[in-house]
This record gives sequence, C-alpha cells and structure tokens, in this order.
Amino acid sequence: MILKQSFLHIFLVFTSLIIHIDLCAQNDIDILINKMSIEEKVGQMTQLNLGFLSSSTNQHDGKIKQIDSNKLINAIKNYHVGSILNTAGTAYSIEKWHKILTQIQDIAMTTELQIPILYGIDAIHGVTYTKGSTLFPHNIGLAATRNPSLIREIAKVTAKETRASGIRWNFDPVLDIGRNPLWPRFCETFGEDPYLVSSMGSEIIKGYEADGLSNYTSVSSCMKHFIGYSDPKSGKDRTEAYISDITLWQKHIPSFKAAIDAGASTIMINSSMINDVPVHSSYELLTNLLRNNLGFKGMIVTDWEDIIRLHERHKIASSPREAVKIAINAGIDMSMVPNSYSFCEHLVDLVRTGEIPETRINYSVRRILELKKKLGLFNNPYPEKEAFKNFALKEYKTLALNSAEQSLVLLKNKNQILPLPKDKKYLLLGPATNCLSALNGCWSYSWQGDKENVYPEDGKTILDVFKLRFKKNQILCKANNQYSNPKNFVINFSEEEINKVDYVILFLGENAYAESPGNINDLKLDYNQIELAKKAISTGKKIILVLIQGRPRIISDFSENIDGIINASLPGSMGAQAIVNLIFGDFNPSGTLPFTYPANTGDILTYDHKNLSAMIRTAPNKRKYGGYNPEFKFGDGLSYSNFSVSELKLSKDTLIKSEKINVSFLVTNYGLIDGNKNIDMFIKDHFASLAPDVKNLKGFKKVFLKAGEKKTINFEIDKNDLFFYDENGIKLFEEGIFSIQIEDEIKSFYFIP
Ligand code: BGC
Repeated sequence: MILKQSFLHIFLVFTSLIIHIDLCAQNDIDILINKMSIEEKVGQMTQLNLGFLSSSTNQHDGKIKQIDSNKLINAIKNYHVGSILNTAGTAYSIEKWHKILTQIQDIAMTTELQIPILYGIDAIHGVTYTKGSTLFPHNIGLAATRNPSLIREIAKVTAKETRASGIRWNFDPVLDIGRNPLWPRFCETFGEDPYLVSSMGSEIIKGYEADGLSNYTSVSSCMKHFIGYSDPKSGKDRTEAYISDITLWQKHIPSFKAAIDAGASTIMINSSMINDVPVHSSYELLTNLLRNNLGFKGMIVTDWEDIIRLHERHKIASSPREAVKIAINAGIDMSMVPNSYSFCEHLVDLVRTGEIPETRINYSVRRILELKKKLGLFNNPYPEKEAFKNFALKEYKTLALNSAEQSLVLLKNKNQILPLPKDKKYLLLGPATNCLSALNGCWSYSWQGDKENVYPEDGKTILDVFKLRFKKNQILCKANNQYSNPKNFVINFSEEEINKVDYVILFLGENAYAESPGNINDLKLDYNQIELAKKAISTGKKIILVLIQGRPRIISDFSENIDGIINASLPGSMGAQAIVNLIFGDFNPSGTLPFTYPANTGDILTYDHKNLSAMIRTAPNKRKYGGYNPEFKFGDGLSYSNFSVSELKLSKDTLIKSEKINVSFLVTNYGLIDGNKNIDMFIKDHFASLAPDVKNLKGFKKVFLKAGEKKTINFEIDKNDLFFYDENGIKLFEEGIFSIQIEDEIKSFYFIP
C-alpha cells in the first residue's frame, strides 16, 4: 500500500511538473503576445512569396530571381512578416537553401522580439524545390500500391529531406477526393474513394509529424484544400462546385477528419467555392465545421492570394479591405498574401478601427507562435546540422524504385503477352519515351514540372533505361526529349525497319502540368496521340501501351487493338526503371486502380455510384443503356501470377450493436511465380432511408503469396463500417441487410444497431 502511495506521489509530482512546464510554455507565448503591437501581430499572420522579396533579371531562358536583401529587411523589420513560402524560380541546391534560410533568420533575430520566420514549401511527392532530392510517385500512383506503411516511409523521407533543406513546414498532403478525372489536380489525390484517401492521408500525416515537430526528422504537415475543391462542375481548376451537405459529409469530410485525428497541425483552404459560397469566406465551414465540429485546433492558412480574390474573382467583397474582414471573421489565421502588403495594411486598419477585435487576432497569433515553438524554431531557427545528413541517402532511391514498381497497374495482358522476352527487337514510340518531365509530372523541381533542363543529370528516361539494358540493334527509337516535339508523334522508319521489329511499345499520356494550366476540354487522349496509336496498330505488330499521365485519358478509340496496357500514372524519378522492369518481368505487378477509368467522356461514374446509375435498361428499340461501363474498374489490376479468392465466411450472420464480425477468406496463388495480391473489401447496404451507394470500400490489404501458396485472410468489421451521414453530419445506423464483397465472393448479414 505504502509502495503504491509513493508511486502515486512520484506520479503526481511528475504530472504536475509536466503541467507546470506546459503552463510555462503557454505563458511564454502569452507574454510574447502581450508585448506585441498590432502591426507585429498582423505581421505574424502574413505570409509572403520569396519571389516577391526578390528582384528579377531577365535572362535568355526566363527569369532568374535574386533575393533582394532590402526587400527582405523591409518585410521582416517594417512589416514584421511571420512566414515566407516558395522558391523564387526553380529548385535550389541544399546549400543555397541554407544560405537563404540563414539570411532570413539572421534578419528576424535582429528584430526586437526575435520571432523566427516559419518557412513553408510544397514538397508534394518528395522535395519539389531542392536539387538532388528524391521524387516519388504522385499520390494517385501511391494509392494503387494499397500499402500504407510504404506511404508512411515515403512521407518520412520527404520530411527528412525537407527539414534537411532548412524548411519545417510542408503544404502536403492533398486530401481532396478525386471524384472528377477532368480536374487537373487529380494526380495529387489518392483517388476517388474516401476510405482509401483517409487511410493513405493519415499515414502521410504520421510520417511527417509522428516523431514530434521539434525533431529534425519531422515537418509540420498541411492538409489541403479544405473543402470540396476537387469536384468542380466544369472539371476546371478553381471553378465552382455544387456539393450537397450529405455528399460533403459522405465523401469529402472523412479524409480531413481522419487527418485531424492523426494529429495534422495545419490546414489550407480551398480557393474555390461550394454552393456559391467561397470557402475562404465561410464562417460555417471554417469555424462551425472545421473548428467546432471536427475539432481542429491547429493553424488555418489561406491558399495563394485567396483573400484578395474574394474581391477580385469571387466578387463577394466590394473592396480588398472588406475581403480581409470577411476572411478573418470566417476563421483564417494566416494569409498566403503573398505578393503585396495589402493584407497587413487592411488588417491593421480593421483592428485599429475596432471592426475586428484585437482579441480575435490574438487567437490566430497564438496558434502561429505555438506552431513555431513546437517546431523548435525558438530554440534554433537555422537549418539544423543533424538534419543535413539525412539528405539524398542511397536507400531513398531504392524506396523510390520500390514504390514506383508497386504503383504500376497492369490493366490488360492479352494472351499473356507480358512480360516480354528480352532478346527481341522493340520499336519505342510516343512523347513520353524520352522525357523526364512526363514521368515526374507537376511539382518536380519547378511548379509545372515541365522544365526538362532542371532535372538531375543522372535522371533516366525510358529510352535511357532501354539503352542501358539492350543492344543497340534491339531498339528502334527517335524520340525527342521535348514532349511536344512533332517527331514524337510520327513513325519515322522505313517499312523494312519496322518489319524487323517484334514489339511496338507506345508511351502515351500527358506532359507535366500543375493546377489551372492543366485544364482540358476533353478527357480523350490528345488527337495526335490517338493518331499515333492507330498508326502503330496498323503496322500489324504486337502493341504494348504504357500510359504515363495524371488522370485517366480516354483510350477507347483504339484500346481494343492493344495487347498489353499498363497505367503508370506519374511514377517519379525511378519510374523509367520501374516501367522497364515491369515490361520484362523483373518483378511481379500488384498495383490496383484507385479510381474508375472511364471509357467515354460523357460517362464518368465513380465505382460507388447509386443503384439508379447501375441499372441497365432497354429502350423500346432494344437499345441498352445505363450501368457502370468503364474502360477499367476501380480495383482492377493484373499480376503475372494467378490468384483466386474463395471460401468467404462471416463469423456471424447477425451483427448486434457494438459486436464485431470476423470476415475470413482464402487467397490462393495458383500461378507459377510469387507475388503480392491487393485485396479490397467492399460493404453493400441493401436498403437505407437515404439512397445507398452500390457498395463502399471498407478495408484493403496487400498479401504476399509464394507460388502455390494459400493463405487465410481476415478483416474485422463493426457498426463503424455500417453507418452513413445525414446532412448535419449525424451518423445514421439503420437496421437491415448488408453484404460483404471480396472479388466475386459475396456474403450477407443482418445488422441491428
Ligand atoms: C496551390 C497550393 C499550394 C500553394 C503554394 C497554390 O497555388 O493551390 O496547393 O500549396 O499554391 O505553393
């Protein structure tokens, strides 16, 4: 008993110490806030673009920007700016980043309050803006891996390389749901399913933050873009979306909720509008939903220029000053202004005139300063020496290759044409054959990712890898490294040369683009690529098509005549090696689609559509219509081995209240080689008071099986897999029949909530 009491004493002393330390910590921030002028507080809420603090000298190949120390001093000393973002051009060497960060923090340390600057950057699939960093597949490819631990590992490496660059805040991950394949940021999403996006997104958050923000292996994450950005009516970036409250809850909110629960420290807001309300202006969405309902306690940052755009684009504010007032009242903490001082000037004035209470901005300033403190910036604002050693390690390349391999999806393999034999002759065609930007896509050493000359010298195109692996006389290729070069869209060989070829491999898709410059009017593959594919088919050779693209471009004009199809998405810096490895069977593919690949531009339906859309009907003239008829389905993906799923069993046929059901089934590899099998588990709600989806993903696993091996796999489900939301975000649990579906196996049970 005494022993227990003394333990209790130690425990209490210890916890009170922690509470004391914590209170002291809070007091530090409060003491600091009490010392700050209105200008200094507003400055903390201001984020400027590094380009705005630079002077540009026009050089022959574009604008080279030099950081202007007078502008920097003006921003930090006179405007008390708290945060800077971005690069003033393309990627910098790590040494240059250190120099820039040191220059910035040196100025901050000479101010009276010595508040360090919080630097933020987009490290979207690896560290976008540091030369020599490791670029991984984009999220749309990562979602195809169905491998959360791999994704966490990638995030960890990205955190280490960002921090090694001297930067502690990453504007990632994108948690928007890829419901509209026209949207040019589709590749930044983890696909169309909320459960998949939630699972992968929270792994990224943990990879960035779980070591503790003060640790030199971590960065602060930034979930984005809250909310409803990804499903604009027109498919064009930053245009209006119309999303019902039920759909917001059902599809768009869960990934943010999961990330908040995983500990995400900051969030960025959707530049666009939902149901005629610009999200940056919405107290309902930013304060009632995000803060009060979802419980987000971290810092809210705007997206690029999105306060002034309430006036300039959305036209809901009659002046830039009113725009500031609306956004701050809605709940914004920090404004990514980022190319003027208008925000500072208006907000200072609004506080001085009492239109915005000083207590309101104190809340935001406290969140910003607390984040800086958690990141260890008050202890050491400079690039950390320990972090530097984590940059560009050899094993990161292996991880990039491994993740690229797992991200590739084999969609068609007629008569097992793939893998190809290694002793034949190959004609390589198409704009992506010899182009690094196509493999890496947006946010790759530049915003658009399309500057071929800024990629690392040791970067390999697909043609480079072929040249390394095969004899000269085995390859026929004249591909140019500029994607749009007309030579990439013709077959410039004689009939005699073509006759000697055994296989034609087409590398088609899209060149790199980011955000609005990637808007398209048609999801169909570009005309010149379709024509090239048709010409290739007319050679009569066996054809393999590799699609290197950020979104599913429609190929139904010619896909029937292709023997093997691989969807490579944007596989990153080791993408070429991964693709060639897949074509020649150096590994066994396991990727599965995280989206529906449409067959027609007018028939875009996600897999979790309503029963109404699933119905196939016949008109009086006997024409069939309706149904889910994509080119490839969500979850499609072949292997070089053969797997079967059988003996699906449920541990109960009735689930009551908080009970659980064990779902078990047998997976057999009856092929000749070992391989991974990705398994998706769907649940179908047969009848509900709000029209249910035909099915919903509720679990997935990656299972490794040796040739001939069988394994019993288990999932557990409970009532949390069986509810749906009403328009107020209330979870509805309704009695009725549900089914579990794994591949073609289906078993039903009854649920009594
Ligand atoms: C994008 C954000 C990005 C920001 C900063 C904006 O244009 O929408 O996703 O984080 O720029 O670069």
